[in-house]
Amino acid sequence: PLPPAFQVSLPLPSVLAPVSTSGGADRYEITQREATAEILPGVRTPLWTYEGAFPGPTIESRRGRPITVTHRNELPVPTVVHLHGGRTPAPSDGYPTDLVLPEGWPDAHVTHTGPGGPGHGMHDPQAVLTRLTRDYTFPLDQRPALLWYHDHRMDFTAPAIWRGLAGLHIVRDDAEDSLGLPAGRRELPLMIADRAFAADGSLDYPALDPALRRRPGVREAYLAGVLGDVILVNGAPWPVHEVDAARYRLRILNASNARHYELEAVSDDGRLLDLVQIGADQGLLTAPVTHRLLPIAPAERYDVIIDFKGVPVGSRVRLLNRLGSGRTREVMAFRIARRASDDSRIPRTLSTDLPIWRRSDAVRVRDFSFRAGQMHGGHGWLIGGEPFDPARTDVTTHLGDVEIWRLVADVHHPIHLHLVGFRVLSRSGRPPLPHDAGLKDTVSLRPAESVEIITRFDGYRGRYLFHCHNAEHEDMGMMANIEII
Ligand code: C2O
Ligand code: CU
Repeated sequence: PLPPAFQVSLPLPSVLAPVSTSGGADRYEITQREATAEILPGVRTPLWTYEGAFPGPTIESRRGRPITVTHRNELPVPTVVHLHGGRTPAPSDGYPTDLVLPEGWPDAHVTHTGPGGPGHGMHDPQAVLTRLTRDYTFPLDQRPALLWYHDHRMDFTAPAIWRGLAGLHIVRDDAEDSLGLPAGRRELPLMIADRAFAADGSLDYPALDPALRRRPGVREAYLAGVLGDVILVNGAPWPVHEVDAARYRLRILNASNARHYELEAVSDDGRLLDLVQIGADQGLLTAPVTHRLLPIAPAERYDVIIDFKGVPVGSRVRLLNRLGSGRTREVMAFRIARRASDDSRIPRTLSTDLPIWRRSDAVRVRDFSFRAGQMHGGHGWLIGGEPFDPARTDVTTHLGDVEIWRLVADVHHPIHLHLVGFRVLSRSGRPPLPHDAGLKDTVSLRPAESVEIITRFDGYRGRYLFHCHNAEHEDMGMMANIEII
């Protein structure tokens, strides 16, 4: 039986301590291992974890101060880590074939089978394999933002994230710290993810190969993406958090494989609270944008201020999902525990360093369709009519080039670019929506919509990805290569 809503208290992921901090750089170690957790009352759920926890430990870093994370893979399958939203040199970006092989995994099993099953082997001559451990180096020369790290193994990203391989990473800097935003225990990271559970408490995922060893893919009924009927926030079902009657900063990530949300904050007396957006995927906006309803697609992040002042002590504010029904309409609740003073503020100008690219800056325009199609004789999700192939370069661009991309969809696809942030220019010929503000790395491409984005490919040369972040679509081919030369 599922627990009643708003009973379990909201867990706050622990912040990982560096193992050393010498020479202007910090070193971290993360072991990927199996663990269990009591997510639903009275049963243990087996998980794949970073450091034994889901979500994994949060890394807090400073802009421009490099870190190295040594990942050790003690799971029974290969893994690879990607820092989503990181401005990362290609060798540390977690390319899906750059696998960390577990002890005893035969190299011969590394040929990727693709959703067509064995016999559709794809081989990546550029893959860099390591055994047991790998060092990922992140310069973090980027705007402060909520990033997240997760598994990115070719063909198996969706079930690996589902089993628990996801954690938060917050980049900070002095300018943001000095704004006077709610901080300390009034800043709450919220990783929202839906999951389904079997009767014994194990996570239920319709994988064709439950061991996730060789054969990728999901059962036919799940080709559009896997949804769960339990909404977890920071790994707890429909949690509740006690708050002061004051402003809070919510750093919201939708870490669901395929579920979209439209969030609203409703008080017990039926009032809708303002969700004041101060930041997007890639950090602070120029100025706040106020929402009553905030859509959030898989992998998107929103940085939001909510003010509980004026909500009666003892009553609740529920965070609800307008797109859900029954239990999936509920996300979490805040219980107003006490009156309290509040010296936080929301400055009218939040940041002044957002890149502004004009249409005339673009040296080229590219078109990409995101549609269902055939792949190796089975169902696939295709970009420009092609399924992902690590050996094919789909886009070649020059370091520093500004480009406009026009993205068109059949069904809903959240599109993510590695390495760069972008701005949304238009939606189906109309101006962007209010929540498209700021610098994004994932854009929600809605059914039958066409979206224009603009970006500059700067930072590093090398091979990067763009893909749909419906994780099942991603595993079923909806990914492509960008080569920056
Ligand atoms: Cu969060 Cu390539 O992904
Ligand atoms: Cu998609």
